[in-house]
Amino acid sequence: ATRRPMVAANWKMAGSLQLAEELIQKFSRLPDISPDVVLCPPSVYLDNIQSKLEAKASSLMGKNLTLGGQNLSHQEFGAYTGEISGTMLKEFGCKYVIIGHSERRRMYGETSDMVAEKFAMAQRCGLTPILCVGESLAAREANRTFEVLSGELDAVLDKCGIVAFDNAVLAYEPIWAIGTGKSATPEQAQEVHAFLRQRLSDLSPYEGEKIRILYGGSVKSSNAAELFNQPDVDGGLVGGASLNASEFVTLCRIAS
Ligand code: G3H
Repeated sequence: ATRRPMVAANWKMAGSLQLAEELIQKFSRLPDISPDVVLCPPSVYLDNIQSKLEAKASSLMGKNLTLGGQNLSHQEFGAYTGEISGTMLKEFGCKYVIIGHSERRRMYGETSDMVAEKFAMAQRCGLTPILCVGESLAAREANRTFEVLSGELDAVLDKCGIVAFDNAVLAYEPIWAIGTGKSATPEQAQEVHAFLRQRLSDLSPYEGEKIRILYGGSVKSSNAAELFNQPDVDGGLVGGASLNASEFVTLCRIAS
C-alpha cells in the first residue's frame, strides 16, 4: 500500500517524564524510520515533552515523531472543570488526538454521538482525530462485530460526512484484546480492517484507499510483524508495550 505506516503510543494514565526522556534518547540515536510515530502521553506531560522534542530537533529529523492527546473536550472553552480543549492540545504541540477509545466510551459514558462531536471539534481545532472503534467479546461471540463497528463509524459519518475522513486515522481496537495479552489474529484484524475500509470506499473510493487504519490490542514486538504485514493494517495503536522504550522503538522499526 502507498499509505505511510503509523505507530501511536497511548500511555493512558501511565508513563512518566523519565520514560519520555528514554524514548527521545532512543529515537534520536535511530537511523531515519518511515512510520509516523505519535506519542500520546497524559496531557500534563505535553509541555515538558514538547520542549524535549524541540531540544533534540536536529537529531530527530527524519523520525516523524509527533505528539497527540488522549482525549479532548467537545466544547471549545468555558466552564468545564477538568476538561482540556483541542486548542490547548494544539498549543502544546499536538498534531493528533485519540477519540472514542473504548475506555472512554465504557468508563466515562462517551456515546457515539459525543464521540462524533469530539471528532468534529478536533478537526475544527486543527487536530487529526484517531478514531477508535471496537467490539466487545460478547458482541463478537454473538456475530455482531460488523454491526457494532458500523454503528460507531456511522455516528461520525452522519455528523461529519465522508470528506472529514480525509484528515483522520481509524483505529480498530477489539475490546477483548486491549490489555489482555491476547491480540486479535492477523486474519481477524485484516478481516475487520478490510470491512472498515470498504465501508468508507463505498462512500468515496479515494478516502477509503487513503485512510490509515491502525490495529490496537496487545500489540507487542512478538506479534507486530504479522499484524502490520496485513494489507489493510497500516500500523498500530499501542498501550502497554509503549511504556517500555526499547520495546516501543522496536515496534516502530517493525512498522518501517
Ligand atoms: O490504545 C491502546 C489500546 O487500548 C491497546 O492497549 O496495547 O495495552 O492492549 P494494549
